[in-house]
Amino acid sequence: MNNLTIKKNTVDLALLREKIDTLRKERNAVILAHYYQEPAIQDIADFVGDSLELARWAATTNADVIVFAGVLFMAETAKILNPTKTVLLPDMKAGCSLSDSCPPTEFRAFLDAHPNHIVISYINCSIEIKAMSDIICTSSNAEQIINSIPKDQPIIFAPDKNLGSYLAGKTGRDLLLWDGACMVHEAFSIDKLLDLHKEFPNAAIIAHPESEAHVLKTASFIGSTAAMIRYVKESPNDQFIVATEAGILHRMKQDVPEKTLIPAPSVEDNTCACSECGYMKLNTMEKLYLCLKNNRPEIIIEEELRLKALKPLQECLRHIPKK
Ligand code: 13P
Ligand code: SF4
Repeated sequence: MNNLTIKKNTVDLALLREKIDTLRKERNAVILAHYYQEPAIQDIADFVGDSLELARWAATTNADVIVFAGVLFMAETAKILNPTKTVLLPDMKAGCSLSDSCPPTEFRAFLDAHPNHIVISYINCSIEIKAMSDIICTSSNAEQIINSIPKDQPIIFAPDKNLGSYLAGKTGRDLLLWDGACMVHEAFSIDKLLDLHKEFPNAAIIAHPESEAHVLKTASFIGSTAAMIRYVKESPNDQFIVATEAGILHRMKQDVPEKTLIPAPSVEDNTCACSECGYMKLNTMEKLYLCLKNNRPEIIIEEELRLKALKPLQECLRHIPKK
């Protein structure tokens, strides 16, 4: 990139920021962003958080319009909680491999084959799966929710088998797992990770619980995106290898500029040596501007389905994680 191009991109970005800001005020809109969004989107958002924090924000905001800079299941969650508000997703194709790994028809058959189970579903699932669940959880409150269920009550946990196995170990419960996974968190290479740790032996490995068991075994801390950010701030350690989507590094770098943050290497990527979620990265500043300007793509949900998904989601919001 030459100097002229860099200058043009900076001007374009500044102009987009100005336009988004004007529209946000005119429309009484709030911009909510996940930590995996590109830096410019995180910087312009009214609130940046993990899945549970974003759902809480969505549940309490007074704005007329919610622009959800995240993926479809997050925007759907905001709409389930706010049926009268306009909920916009900058790119409607921003899906989720984990959500896709649990198709509703197959899940229905799975539930029918295993009656008498309480169904706990991770928030990273479609509205149809939420509607078939008893309680929704996020990585922040999943352990707490499982521990609140009587010991003799069998539990189905869906859709993430990695998070489910991790929780089974933490809670000592025999969870019946749906066989789903996130392709971003399954892309970490254990061999490259161990080699990297040899290079930086003092670095603490921290991981999101959507990662596979062999990665989690190497970690000195496991938690949601918000918990990982808190950990790097509070830990006396000054070097970290971070096993989750690379977008989280933007906020970490802002919070602990003096510390060394190294993204965990993925199997395929030999160029940037990190893991990015292609769905999260479909949202751009330009699409953010256009969705505010055009009032679309808008999340529309059928009322009967919304009401079925609302109850398990409200259960989720009752469980506030201990910090
Ligand atoms: P949390 O932000 O809740 O940790 O979830 C991570 C994730 O994969 C979101 O898609
Ligand atoms: Fe889904 Fe994984 Fe992307 Fe999160 S990181 S949105 S779980 S594909």
